[in-house]
Amino acid sequence: MAALALFSLVLRLFAVQAGGDDGASFTACLAAAGVRNVTTRGSPGYGTALRASIQNLRFAGAGAPKPAAVVAPASLEGLRAAVRCARAAGLVVRLRSGGHSYEGLSYTTEDRSAFAVVDLAALDRVRVDASRGGGGTAWVEAGATLGQVYHAVAGASQALAFSAGSCPTVGSGGHIAGGGFGLLSRKYGLAGDNVVDAVLVDAEGRVLDRGGMGEDVFWAIRGGGGGTWGAVYAWRIQLSPVPERVTAFVVNRPGSVESVARLVSTWQHVAPWLPDEFYVSAFVGAGLPESNRSAGISVTFKGLYLGPSQEALQILTARFPEIGLSDLNPREMSWIESVVFFSGLPEGSAVSDLADRVLHKKNYFKAKSDYVRRPMAFDQLIRAVDLLSKQPKAYVILDPYGGAMDRVGSGDLPFPHRKGNIHGIQYLIEWTADEDGHKDEYMDWLRRFYDVMGAYVPKNPRTAYINYMDLDLGTNNRSDSTDQNPNSEVEAARAWGERYFLGNYDRLVRAKTMIDPDNVFRNAQSIPPLRAPGMARRSPRGISPEVMSNGGAYDG
Ligand SMILES: Cc1cc2nc3c(=O)[nH]c(=O)nc-3n(C[C@H](O)[C@H](O)[C@H](O)COP(=O)(O)OP(=O)(O)OC[C@H]3O[C@@H](n4cnc5c(N)ncnc54)[C@H](O)[C@@H]3O)c2cc1C
Ligand SMILES: *[C@@H]1O[C@H](CO)[C@@H](O)[C@H](O)[C@H]1NC(C)=O
Ligand SMILES: *[C@@H]1O[C@H](CO)[C@@H](O)[C@H](O)[C@H]1NC(C)=O
Ligand SMILES: *[C@@H]1O[C@H](CO)[C@@H](O)[C@H](O)[C@H]1NC(C)=O
Repeated sequence: MAALALFSLVLRLFAVQAGGDDGASFTACLAAAGVRNVTTRGSPGYGTALRASIQNLRFAGAGAPKPAAVVAPASLEGLRAAVRCARAAGLVVRLRSGGHSYEGLSYTTEDRSAFAVVDLAALDRVRVDASRGGGGTAWVEAGATLGQVYHAVAGASQALAFSAGSCPTVGSGGHIAGGGFGLLSRKYGLAGDNVVDAVLVDAEGRVLDRGGMGEDVFWAIRGGGGGTWGAVYAWRIQLSPVPERVTAFVVNRPGSVESVARLVSTWQHVAPWLPDEFYVSAFVGAGLPESNRSAGISVTFKGLYLGPSQEALQILTARFPEIGLSDLNPREMSWIESVVFFSGLPEGSAVSDLADRVLHKKNYFKAKSDYVRRPMAFDQLIRAVDLLSKQPKAYVILDPYGGAMDRVGSGDLPFPHRKGNIHGIQYLIEWTADEDGHKDEYMDWLRRFYDVMGAYVPKNPRTAYINYMDLDLGTNNRSDSTDQNPNSEVEAARAWGERYFLGNYDRLVRAKTMIDPDNVFRNAQSIPPLRAPGMARRSPRGISPEVMSNGGAYDG
């Protein structure tokens, strides 16, 4: 036994010295730090650990680069060790909370550098403090899914909610890092707007709270994109009041291209200006899961009103009777029941199912996004709906903005798409394993559709949402920067960075240069640091975990 242990130690040392780390020196470093939940390529459980939260099957196949190891730390100390050990072993860190990155950036790489997945799945505790002023707060470990957060919040108080996305398996780590829009955002803004503190593990392994990281970095982590600044260990979120009963409906309206375009046109003129308490989104497609396929193109409206159904109907009667009121069937329920209603979980699911981390319906998909500042001309909508009617695998989701989204300044957080934007557009195309042979055809279709839509949306730049990440907009290339021109990577990234962040791009670059000057946390669309010599670097002040738990942060 002793001889075997010595032999494997020698092998590990050799692997490090040879510089060709196969995960062995990483594993040894983790073992020394007491981190146990680790699998390496070829070891039992590796495939299961890696696949656990892969959401887009486009990046699950044999062709996608695979990590040297998957590690799931079970404590803040373990997370620090994972970051430190990966760095020491020369592995790029890919942080994963819910695994819903549209481009697979939490579990694969585009540039084939050796990497490790640091999975926060075991860091998923939520501690609600409903008694704090202003509606209450919660400490949320970044590996908690939105469903786990909603479940815990409603469990503590039926009068409180959190404003964030609708899919319960999305991770709070990646979601809040990119902003986080949901059914309460017209009333309470983005998830990122409701973060009051955070605990970040930086590239040096330091533990930083809001005061420790400073306001520029605290600004950047709430919308500047995941995987860029460090590992968020926990968020302290502000909870928001909701009435005991809310009103929810989903209604599918199939019809001709013209009648669907007419309804979408009316929606564009109405939904962004409804009272803040009212959210009505529109899904348009020929093959929507909830629609009757034999009926051709349709629009589905999803409505949530923070109040009784009588009021919701009165508002719709006055402002949007075209939606069709006679069979709308608005249902009153608690807020948490409405979360289940809009979750996409199977019919009959219970509130407790929100805590299930596993996404059961996985697909292959590609997405793109846009923002709209004024309603489109009717002939433009006809053209768009007509194209969608011919590709049943594609659909668009129109999310209404306005309300609280207008009242946050475009530089208050990195997410800049505020006042003046009436709605977002998300373009999606989805396919199954059987159809994967046609994947290029599907992705090309979506890109052509996006090109057509380009004539109908604001340009210079044409904007996009970082949480609907789209690598077509451009990717980092580390070899862009040379000694002669150290900042060409920053200039190259401006092309896509300003599409996501507009005028906030330069402040993000400064924050990155401050917190991670060596670009340890990087991916295809992470903000690059300035590399100019003599750059002033401010070193953040660390806090010890003891101070943190005594100071009221998350300590389990
Ligand atoms: C089915 C589905 C529904 C969605 N619905 C919505 C919605 O309603 N509203 C909305 O705004 N968005 C929505 N999204 C988009 C979603 O917000 C983003 O994909 C988000 O980045 C996912 O976060 P995650 O933790 O699940 O993903 P991951 O893939 O785990 O992470 C995404 C990125 O963040 C980084 N990251 C992960 N954890 C951390 C951490 N702890 N610290 C620092 N960086 C980290 C990763 O490295 C990666 O770069 C949806 C996505 C899907 C697939
Ligand atoms: C081990 O890691 C996996 C993800 O790789 C995670 O789902 C699981 O909860 C972890 N187990 C423990 C005991 O922490
Ligand atoms: C679909 O629509 C057709 C025509 O309107 C109707 O006859 C059929 O019953 C519908 N099917 C379902 C499953 O609703
Ligand atoms: C990065 O840039 C180099 C030099 O310009 C080029 O050879 C390489 O193909 C680029 N890599 C990617 C992934 O675009």
